[in-house]
Amino acid sequence: MIKRQSLSNRIVHWTIALSVFGLIFSGIGQLPAYKRYKLSDISGMAWTADYQITLWIHYAFAIVLLAAAAYHVCVHSLRREFDILPKRGDFKASLQVIWAMIRKKEEPPSAKYLPEQRLAYAFIAFAIALLIVTGIIKMAKNVAGWNISDSLHFWSAQLHNLGMILIMLGIAGHLAAFLFKPNRKLLSAMFSGKIEADYAIRRHGLWKEGVKAAKKANVAEKKQR
Ligand code: HEM
Ligand code: HEM
Repeated sequence: MIKRQSLSNRIVHWTIALSVFGLIFSGIGQLPAYKRYKLSDISGMAWTADYQITLWIHYAFAIVLLAAAAYHVCVHSLRREFDILPKRGDFKASLQVIWAMIRKKEEPPSAKYLPEQRLAYAFIAFAIALLIVTGIIKMAKNVAGWNISDSLHFWSAQLHNLGMILIMLGIAGHLAAFLFKPNRKLLSAMFSGKIEADYAIRRHGLWKEGVKAAKKANVAEKKQR
């Protein structure tokens, strides 16, 4: 096994995942959908119909999301780690990888991230950035009492709702990726932080540090035997 994801990356991933789930749940509460669809009639769930409670839950998760997103952007900019940003030709390369997975044929070698992971990252990051910007505008009006124009109010609300649809589609696509068996080998990266050395060599041949660590791990294992 070799290291793929640092503890810091894993904490950021799961903090963002948890806060996004909390924001989706509390955001839908403000629409307000839970009273209408009777979720609040179930015992112990009456609070879901209380606008003030879901609003405060929304704000609490928004602060967590903002902190994790700011940390993520600062850390990777300072360390100059940009492996996950999309590159030219990623769209075509993604189709080649997916087509190879479907036909169970050999894939073209990938770097640390598969081309479709880089595109997924950009899509999810765009949706979250849209939600943060429009959320801050809505919050400035509510909490700070800013006087914003009617059109800014209208568009921030529409784009906030569009952001929610995009992030839901992004999460569905992200989880659907694990329907493909080869991708499941990456699941351990987000839990233990490690992946199999042979898997890194086979699939991520262009990931220099990963391949180097994998070869070293294989030599060490042979010596032990
Ligand atoms: C709100 C929920 C979530 C968000 C916003 C999110 C976001 C992301 C993003 C942007 C990436 C990098 C791009 C990619 O690999 O596609 C990623 C990677 C990953 N995520 Fe998630 N994720 C969420 C939930 C989950 C869940 C529930 C799981 C596990 C079942 C999961 C497992 C993984 C794994 C295994 C990777 C790949 C790590 C690697 O390549 O080393 N994610 N996630
Ligand atoms: C995954 C992220 C998020 C999702 C899915 C989401 C979803 C929603 C939804 C569905 C609503 C109700 C629609 C409406 O009242 O117009 C809402 C309202 C709101 N959201 Fe978000 N949101 C997210 C992130 C944020 C963030 C990061 C902030 C703040 C920085 C924020 C601030 C607000 C505010 C202030 C309201 C309006 C409350 C009101 O006046 O009724 N949201 N959100």
